[in-house]
Amino acid sequence: MAKRVVIAIDGPAGAGKSTIARRVAARLGFVYVDTGAMYRALALWAIRAGVDLEDAHRLEQLAAEARIEFEPGGSRVLLNGEDVTEAIRAPEVGSAASRISVFAGVRRAMVAEQRRIARQASVVMEGRDIGTVVFPAADVKIFLDASPEARAQRRLRELRERGQDVPAEQVAAELEERDRRDRSRAEAPLMQAPDAVYLDTTALSLEQVEQAVLRIVRERVANGQQPG
Ligand code: DC
Repeated sequence: MAKRVVIAIDGPAGAGKSTIARRVAARLGFVYVDTGAMYRALALWAIRAGVDLEDAHRLEQLAAEARIEFEPGGSRVLLNGEDVTEAIRAPEVGSAASRISVFAGVRRAMVAEQRRIARQASVVMEGRDIGTVVFPAADVKIFLDASPEARAQRRLRELRERGQDVPAEQVAAELEERDRRDRSRAEAPLMQAPDAVYLDTTALSLEQVEQAVLRIVRERVANGQQPG
């Protein structure tokens, strides 16, 4: 059986992980996995079900029951069969995802699903703990970063493109709060794996970041393709 390749991309919110991971996956013919979308889908379910976002036990139950699926190409996200692609992008769902992702039981269920997906296909998987916890032996690890200002700007643009008019200061404040929580939690905090390549995208165009990532992949994986 051909070896499955794992490309792990971690970094803070707004660093450009999703866009880059999606493009690199398309280039390589790998499956793109947005793990943040999984935590967001679960958070959306918790909000709708009126579950207290501090109730670790209930959240763990929800995580075990949730059916979170990606349509081929990774562009649509289904929660228990319902397309929640747009709904999970609301800023309050991002904040709720950050809050529920501190719980070990929640993470356990999500990580198990992420590992299952990578057993079926070569993946470009992005999140916060992919290179540190989910796949410590990933073939390629990249830590994507950008200045807080650039990240807030990108997030703002993304939200406006979706027709959500949120004040710039609010976006920056929420991003900062979320990063602080993601970096300081006890379980699988956001951090760079020692063997990850650090890439600061602040001054780079999308094309430049994509080229840089593809170069790193080619250096570490034969032909940037699955070795036979
Ligand atoms: O990548 P994102 O902004 O969609 O992620 C939303 C939240 O989910 C993020 O603030 C923290 C959590 N998350 C996580 O804890 N671990 C991951 N691998 C991905 C996301």
